[in-house]
Amino acid sequence: ALERTLSIIKPDAVAKNVIGQITSRFEAAGLKVVAAKLVRLSRAEAEQFYDVHRARPFFKDLVDFMVSGPVMIQVLEGEGAIAKNRDLMGATDPKKAAAGTIRADFADSIDANAVHGSDGPETAAAEVAFFFAGLNVYTR
Ligand code: CMP
Repeated sequence: ALERTLSIIKPDAVAKNVIGQITSRFEAAGLKVVAAKLVRLSRAEAEQFYDVHRARPFFKDLVDFMVSGPVMIQVLEGEGAIAKNRDLMGATDPKKAAAGTIRADFADSIDANAVHGSDGPETAAAEVAFFFAGLNVYTR
């Protein structure tokens, strides 16, 4: 099915100047960027975005990292976009990510792991709505 998923190119990857290289992988896989913004998240925004992880031991480090610099937030659209993006990203822990995936190639650690992608249809809808008003998503 035609889907939308939320992608975040995290502060480590933005600092490495690989926004374009990562976005090229999305495009080469047939995903279209239908919304995008470069922003520095506030602590409140990062905490709310990652609310499901609030009780996890890594929550504070995760939030500290996500507010440490600007992030590139995109909505990707395409056939099976949610799973396709997860395949492109590779495993959360770059040490476990398959060769040729974004995290294998650009991530340094499980915290600084280059990208975030929605993990299912419900979270994708919620995450897209969290960052983008409908009128800022441009289907084409
Ligand atoms: P992300 O897909 O953005 O979702 C939550 C993030 O928490 C995850 O990527 C990792 O960067 C980070 N994280 C740190 N430690 C862990 C862990 N043990 N399990 C899952 N995610 C973790």
